[in-house]
Amino acid sequence: MQFELQHVDASSKARAGIITTAHGKIHTPIFMPVGTAGTVKAVEQRNLHQDVEAEIILGNTYHLYLRPGTQVLDAAAGLHQFINWHKPILTDSGGYQVYSLTQRRKITEQGVTFCSHIDGSKHTFTPENAVDIQRSIGSDIMMVLDECTPYPCTYAYARQSMEMTHRWLQRGIAQFNKTTNDINNYQNLFPIVQGSIYKDLRVQSAETIAAANQPGNAIGGVCHPTGQLYEVTEWVCDILPNDKPRYLMGVGTPRDLLECIALGVDMFDCVMPTRSGRNGRLYTTEGIINIKNKKWRHDFSVIDLQLNSYVSNHYTKAYLHHLFKAQEILGAQIASIHNLTFYLSLVKQARQHILSNTFVPWKTSILRKIMEKL
Ligand code: GUN
Repeated sequence: MQFELQHVDASSKARAGIITTAHGKIHTPIFMPVGTAGTVKAVEQRNLHQDVEAEIILGNTYHLYLRPGTQVLDAAAGLHQFINWHKPILTDSGGYQVYSLTQRRKITEQGVTFCSHIDGSKHTFTPENAVDIQRSIGSDIMMVLDECTPYPCTYAYARQSMEMTHRWLQRGIAQFNKTTNDINNYQNLFPIVQGSIYKDLRVQSAETIAAANQPGNAIGGVCHPTGQLYEVTEWVCDILPNDKPRYLMGVGTPRDLLECIALGVDMFDCVMPTRSGRNGRLYTTEGIINIKNKKWRHDFSVIDLQLNSYVSNHYTKAYLHHLFKAQEILGAQIASIHNLTFYLSLVKQARQHILSNTFVPWKTSILRKIMEKL
C-alpha cells in the first residue's frame, strides 16, 4: 500500500492524499460506507459504484466470522469475490463488535471469549486468529485486535487496557508477518490508538502505534458522545506520522468529519448515514430532514437537487414520505443511497477545497447550511 500526501491546507491541518491498494486508489479524505456483514445495508454494490461513488467499504470480522464463516469465505476466494465488490475493503478486527454486541464476554491477556449474538455459541478472538480470519476475508486493510475502552472509564482501567492493546499489537504484527494470502497478497495491517480521554495515555499510545511502523494508523475509542472527540483527535494526530493515512474509527456526523479533517484525519467510517437513512433522517445540502414528518406530505420537490445523485434528483420528498409511512423497503433504499451520496460528496468537496486552500472558509459556510434542522 502506498500513501501519497498531495497537499496540506494552508490554514488548517487538513490533508489531501491518495492511497493505492491492490484493489485501486482511494482519494483522501474519504468516508467508507459500513458493510458489516458483506452488505452496506439496503444498498446494492452497483449503487455503491454508480450512485454513491464509494472508493472503499468496510466489513466486520466479527459478523463475517460468525456468518457466513471462514470456510465459505475461503471457498469463495475472499470477500471481494463473494460479494462482487472489486474496490478496496477495510475490515474491523472484531474487538469493537464483541464489546458492543455480545452480553457475555471475558477479556484476558490471551484474547476475548464471547457468546455469539446469533445463537449464543462460544468463541474466542485472539490477536492471532483476528489476523487469520482477515486473511480469509482478504481485506485490503485489516485492523489489529484491540479493546475499545468503555466510556466512561477510570484512568487505571484505561491504562491497563491500553497496555494490553499494545501487547496484542505486537502479537498481531507477528502473526501478520508469518502468514500470507493467496487471494490478496497485498494486505495491510493498521494498529489502533487507545487511551480513553486521558492525554498522557493517548500520547503514549500514539507514540507506541507510530513506532510499530505499519502502513497506516487508526484512532479508536472515540465513537461515544464524550464531547472530547476533537481534543483527543488533535492530541493523537499531532503525533501520528504525516506520511501515513490516519483513520478515525466510527466517526461521525457531517460536522465531526469536517472538524476532524481539519485536524488531519484522512479516513472515516460510521453507520450514521445508513442507519439514519433507514430511520427517515436525511442529510441534504439545505439541511437535515425527518422525512416522516407530515410537513413533507405535499412537498413535490425532489429530495436534493444540488446533490449529483439519481435518487436525490428524481424522487420527491412527498413520495419518500409516503414510502416511509407505508413502511416500504424502497424508502430505506432511497434514503440510504441518498445519505451515503451526501457523505461521499461532502468529503470530495472537502478534498477539492483542501487542494485549493479554501477548506476553512468553506467548512464554516457549509456547516451552517447542512447542520440546520428543516
Ligand atoms: N470502531 C469504533 N471504535 C473502535 C475501536 O476503538 N476499536 C475497533 N476495533 N473498532 C472501532
